[in-house]
Amino acid sequence: MAATATYADRQTKTGVVIGATYEGRDPALLERMLPLVDYIEVTLETISEMEDGELRLSDSVMGELKNLGNAVQTIVHGVSLSIGSHEGWSPMYLRLLDDFVEQVDVAWHSEHLGYTKVDGQHLGIMLAMPRTEEALDMLCKRVNAIQERYRLPFLLENIVHVVPDCPADYSDAAFLNALADRTGCGLILDVYNLECDAHNHGFDISAFLNELQFAHVRELHVACGVEHNGLLLDVHSQRTRSSTVELAQRVIRRSPGGIKVVVYEFMPEAIPGLGHTAIAEELARLREAFTD
Ligand SMILES: [Fe+2]
Ligand SMILES: [Fe+2]
Repeated sequence: MAATATYADRQTKTGVVIGATYEGRDPALLERMLPLVDYIEVTLETISEMEDGELRLSDSVMGELKNLGNAVQTIVHGVSLSIGSHEGWSPMYLRLLDDFVEQVDVAWHSEHLGYTKVDGQHLGIMLAMPRTEEALDMLCKRVNAIQERYRLPFLLENIVHVVPDCPADYSDAAFLNALADRTGCGLILDVYNLECDAHNHGFDISAFLNELQFAHVRELHVACGVEHNGLLLDVHSQRTRSSTVELAQRVIRRSPGGIKVVVYEFMPEAIPGLGHTAIAEELARLREAFTD
């Protein structure tokens, strides 16, 4: 499709621009989004298809993304690397990433600070890392190896806590600080995930923010899910709540210059329910909230 806007390292008053999820296969949505975003966040597993027992990037989605030219910058956000699995990460994810970066210019790439498998068995959920010295050492080696392999900025994201914490050597913020200090990786702060943790088990967001070294934070995520049986779920199916936007603004005020982009995340499955118009309105609202 023809590009409708040109990315040109746009300067905004806050130094922050807007990004949004785009997983291909919906050119009409992309056309609505392009004038409103400077980055699209692509999840490789979502734009892939199973072929002969192997997950491969979809040719049609890759064609769409390659066609974008300089209309927007692309950031890759993975979900299945499982960087925290003690037995090793997913080689399949790295094959997808190898293939992607050969074909599309990537501004940076990222994953979740957690694990999705144990002893090779998929959990069907992503769990947060035990915050121990041993886990930190293992993660640092892996982050260094990834940075060496791709020579691109690499960011890790805070995820929600769905099971009680193991005994820890570090607080949540201190673990992120140490990981970024030791490896030079960046951080994504998903502020909706912080809200889920606060709602679900009394996580103290202010104490976390007081301890976090904001210099490492490059990207913020905003999203919204639903409440189920009293739990706030980190499914990305709704427009953002004003509390989420206000929390992200609070973080930006404390991070002079480091944060490049606020990404609005929504699942492809949520698009029919949200509708293209609501997504475009949400992006316009976020631009007003974060870039003016
Ligand atoms: Fe994420
Ligand atoms: Fe996120």
